[in-house]
Amino acid sequence: MEGTVNGIAFEDSGPRGGAPVVFIHGFPFDRTMWAPQMLEASVKHRVIAYDVRGHGRSPAGDGQYSVELFVDDLVMLLDYLKVERAVLCGLSMGGYIALRAAERRPERLSGLVLCDTKSGPDTDEAKIKRAATIAAVKKHGVAKFANEFIKAVLTENTLKTNPAVVGSLLTSILGNSPLGISGALLAMAARTDTTAALSKLTVPALILVGEQDKITPPSAAEAMLKALPQATMHLIPGAAHMSNLENPAVFNEKLAAFLKMIP
Ligand code: MLT
Repeated sequence: MEGTVNGIAFEDSGPRGGAPVVFIHGFPFDRTMWAPQMLEASVKHRVIAYDVRGHGRSPAGDGQYSVELFVDDLVMLLDYLKVERAVLCGLSMGGYIALRAAERRPERLSGLVLCDTKSGPDTDEAKIKRAATIAAVKKHGVAKFANEFIKAVLTENTLKTNPAVVGSLLTSILGNSPLGISGALLAMAARTDTTAALSKLTVPALILVGEQDKITPPSAAEAMLKALPQATMHLIPGAAHMSNLENPAVFNEKLAAFLKMIP
C-alpha cells in the first residue's frame, strides 16, 4: 500500500505479525533507495519506507527542517500506521533521524540498524561546507550538485560498472528541489550529538558500513559500536557510502540475520 499522511509519502508492505521494519533514507535521496531491502525483507516482515520531508514525494513545504521535525514526522507515521514498536533502519541522514528517535522515544523501538552513519554532530568545518553547498545549489541548481555528490558516495567501481544504481540515485537527487535540499542540509548541520544515548539503548543494534565509506567511515561506526551495549558490526565489502545498494547481497544477509533475533 502507498499513501501520504501530513505531507509524508510512504509505502507499507509485507505480512503483519513480528516486528515491522521502518527504512529511513539518506540525504538527498528518497525511499526508492531501499528497493532491494523492501523486496527481500517484505517476504518475512512488515516493511515501511517513507520519503523524509522535502525529499521524493514528500513536498518541501516551507523548507525549514530540523532533525527534531524529522523525528516528529516519523513518530506521526508510526502512530498513523498503528505501529507500536519497530526496527528503525536508517542510512546516513536516516541514521541521524533513527538515533535521535532512539534517544527521544526509546519505547517505540524494537531494534536499531545504523548504516553508514554516525552519532557525532557536525564539526565547524562540516557546517561551513554545508553552507557552501546550500549556496551552490541555489546558484547552480540541483543537476551540478547531483553529479558531484554521486562521486562522493559511491566506489569508483560502482560508478564505472553499475549504471542502474548510479542512474536511480541521480534520478532521486534530481527529483528534489533546491529548497528541500537546503532544508535538509540545515537540519543536519544543526543536529545534536546522540552519542550519550547509545549506552542507554536496551534493544539490539546492528551497524553496517561500507568498507570504503569516506563520508561516515568505519572509524565512526566503530565508535558507535564501543558505546552500544548490545550491538554487532559488519563491514560491507565493495561498498562506499551506499552500502545497501553497492553490495545488496551482503547487506541483506546481515540484515536478515539481525531481524531473525528480533521478537
Ligand atoms: C547522507 O548520506 O545522508 C549525507 O551525506 C550525510 C551527511 O551529509 O552528513
